[in-house]
Amino acid sequence: MSEPPALILEGVHKSFRENEVLKGIDLKVAPHEVVCLIGASGSGKSTLLRCINLVEPIDSGRIVVEGEDITAEGVDANRIRRRIGIVYQSFNLFPHMTVLRNITLAPREVLKMDRAEAEGAAAALLGRFGLIDKQDEYPDRLSGGQQQRVAIVRALAMRPHLMLLDEVTSALDPELVAEVLAVIRELALEGMTMLIATHEMGFARDIADKVCFLDSGSILEAGPPERIFTAPEHPRTRQFLGRIIEAGRL
Ligand SMILES: Nc1ncnc2c1ncn2[C@@H]1O[C@H](COP(=O)(O)OP(=O)(O)O)[C@@H](O)[C@H]1O
Ligand SMILES: [Mg+2]
Repeated sequence: MSEPPALILEGVHKSFRENEVLKGIDLKVAPHEVVCLIGASGSGKSTLLRCINLVEPIDSGRIVVEGEDITAEGVDANRIRRRIGIVYQSFNLFPHMTVLRNITLAPREVLKMDRAEAEGAAAALLGRFGLIDKQDEYPDRLSGGQQQRVAIVRALAMRPHLMLLDEVTSALDPELVAEVLAVIRELALEGMTMLIATHEMGFARDIADKVCFLDSGSILEAGPPERIFTAPEHPRTRQFLGRIIEAGRL
């Protein structure tokens, strides 16, 4: 039996009052696939990720994770969210907790791991991402890049099957972007399934198996990065990429 797709979106619609933000999104993500969402600010990338994480209810359509319709009536949102890691632009670490406690909190409280197990797993992850010497620090003692890497580790500590990353480098000083992208690249190499909203086009071109161009709540175009970035079919994709190139971002 073959593995079901990691994620399927079928006709996903979402409005905020009269503002239709997602206008029928269809998308399939295979296990171990990395899909990048690109598109102008306001095109609906964050809303899409928040709908998948069940932070925003959808108006119609379906979202299926590993074969389970997570938008069906009566589904326990907390159980679903456990399988999905999400990392935002702002790191959202708890400022009054050390790095280690930030990371072990959810595994202990939600997964009911005992302290030794949770700390052991956290230390292993911190070690892998070059952060082991930071485990007893408070977040405000870390650089933005370090904080964001901790935020990624915190999500990984829940052993998610799917990671959603929302512009995770947008709040960083330019010299700190690379260290965060390196972590994501490593996750991709290990086979983590990821859906990544990003403005880093060079990164998307490198890392993505598939790139989706979102425009005003619709996926106008999707395909392998080699094609989307060199031979976009849709005029709006060409226009968007043209502006990115003009800004020196590709
Ligand atoms: N909680 C909300 N309430 C009302 N409108 C929202 C909310 N979140 C997003 N929007 C609107 O949805 C549209 C898409 O926003 P967003 O998903 O953040 O786009 P992107 O991440 O691509 O910049 C925007 O018009 C934004 O103002
Ligand atoms: Mg956004």
